[in-house]
Amino acid sequence: MRTFLRLSGLILPYWPSMLLAVMLGFLTVASNIGLMGLSAYLIASAALHPPVLDLMTAIVGVRFFGICRAVLRYLERYVSHDATFRVLGQIRVWFFAGLEPLAPARLLNYRSGDLLSRIVADVETLKNFYLRVLAPPLVALLVLLLMVFFLVRYEVKLGILFMLFFLGAGIGVPLLVKGAGRNAGRRLVEVKSRLNAHLVDGIQGMTEIIAFGQVKTLCGQAGGLSQELLALQRRVAGISGLSSALTGLLMNLAMWSVLVLTIPLVAAGKLKGIDLAMLALAVLSSFEAILPLAVSLHYLDESLAAARRLFHIIEAKPAVLDSAPTSGEKPQNYDLQVKGLRFRYNGLGPWVLDGLDLRLPEGGRAALVGPSGAGKSTLVHLLLRFWDYQEGSICLGGRMLNDYTQEHLRSLVGVVSQRTHLFNATIRENLLLAKPEASEEELRQAARRARIHSFIQSLPQGYDTYVGEGGFKLSGGQRQRLAIARVLLKNAPILILDEAASGLDPLTGQALMGEIDELMEGRTTLIITHNLRGLERMDQILVLDRGRVVQQGKEEMLLKQEGLYRQLWQISQDALPASS
Ligand SMILES: Nc1ncnc2c1ncn2[C@@H]1O[C@H](COP(=O)(O)OP(=O)(O)OP(=O)(O)O)[C@@H](O)[C@H]1O
Ligand SMILES: [Mg+2]
Repeated sequence: MRTFLRLSGLILPYWPSMLLAVMLGFLTVASNIGLMGLSAYLIASAALHPPVLDLMTAIVGVRFFGICRAVLRYLERYVSHDATFRVLGQIRVWFFAGLEPLAPARLLNYRSGDLLSRIVADVETLKNFYLRVLAPPLVALLVLLLMVFFLVRYEVKLGILFMLFFLGAGIGVPLLVKGAGRNAGRRLVEVKSRLNAHLVDGIQGMTEIIAFGQVKTLCGQAGGLSQELLALQRRVAGISGLSSALTGLLMNLAMWSVLVLTIPLVAAGKLKGIDLAMLALAVLSSFEAILPLAVSLHYLDESLAAARRLFHIIEAKPAVLDSAPTSGEKPQNYDLQVKGLRFRYNGLGPWVLDGLDLRLPEGGRAALVGPSGAGKSTLVHLLLRFWDYQEGSICLGGRMLNDYTQEHLRSLVGVVSQRTHLFNATIRENLLLAKPEASEEELRQAARRARIHSFIQSLPQGYDTYVGEGGFKLSGGQRQRLAIARVLLKNAPILILDEAASGLDPLTGQALMGEIDELMEGRTTLIITHNLRGLERMDQILVLDRGRVVQQGKEEMLLKQEGLYRQLWQISQDALPASS
């Protein structure tokens, strides 16, 4: 019920259009009743060979209702679909806006195909909520009132009889269908989403699947889900056929009963013979309003299941909340201080950061090194407030990190992350993400400094080249350099580079580090790297192991100590021959 009310609430702003559509729907059925009833009257009267002039009113009436019916049906479809698609557009925007604060922490629990399925298929399913769930009962109710009002003028019993059949077909059949469907609607939504998620996953990982020879397995799984979907769809189609048949049966029974009741009235002289056909056909055609009701409970089921899936995500509590920001003003300085920081991704897991301390004065350059899984990228996530830490503190410019709104904080930090995402757009659009108002010259300058400008120029379409899904038309190193160009454009006072030079050949890497050197000038910089070359320029090196800083100081000093840094350095010296 709560879902139903919330869903109706989303439609509320559009109620005038929706109401208009219901009225138009009612008038369409009413025109049909008029058309059929009057046609019957006309044919019955004509059989008695009256002067043609006597038939003129009925002839004009038939024409009128005939035209009205077509025009009104068109208008009804137009208004209801227009309003429905506006609502769907609104719901999509609302859903996307609701997703944003959940990224990335909460969304990691969902498969991307599942999210896609929710935002596309589930929202699409909701269109039935208005078109097939809310509107038809209202139209049917109005038609019922009209017909009862019309029939009791002839005979009260007729009105009651009609009501019984009409309600039987309008309420009884849908309930029966719902019982027979056994939640087919809800399961249909689930299976569709599973199939979508499976296929999106499969397409994204196609290269790996082919390389590992798993195409058959993937196809088999997709086939299994398709079969399940097919079985459900078959059941829904069968039920829908059964319900149409039942409604048709009741419709014809209603007409037949009306005849059984009225024929004696004609014989008794209480009713004119020519009214007989008119009443029978009016009753028959009024059932047009009932036909869509048969499957409306099924669609209600389906819409509620889809809505629940959407609300489930939107209602998830974001991992990080903006407390009332003390101020939106700039911090006094860009000093970064971390004390006793403890963090784990979930309450039961191991501590990923376990009492981490570091201090990075404004303008200072620090390198963070350490074995894989030590928690380096996690620290970046916390600095950007993608997650909130559990214990300890992080201060920026003397203020706690959570005094800043997430938006403000992220505007102060330029990040090249370990997993850069490029959009399936042009190189220019990908760069402009960092600074939408950047001039062409600024773009080129940033690209030049990131050592990617000449490559871009060598492409036939230059900056307008599409980079493909996830930037796959570029090499790993080129993607990385674009990401660096993006950060150069953003020009933020704090710089974090997580494995920025990974994937680059040693020469380019070295040249790029030279650029980054320049870029670091005057900025608070944290470089995370596995490449221990060139770290002598850093003010300090922090060696992270299992969530703690185990060594800290200038390279010169660390190399003199017996410890993890020397071990790592030794290995990197052995692994990489001198590049120049
Ligand atoms: N979203 C997540 N949920 C749960 N655990 C995570 C998540 N992200 C990372 N971890 C875990 O946290 C630990 C630290 O990961 P992190 O990415 O910070 O390592 P790292 O030091 O950056 O390693 P690398 O050098 O390989 O990039 C790892 O054990 C990892 O499995
Ligand atoms: Mg990492």
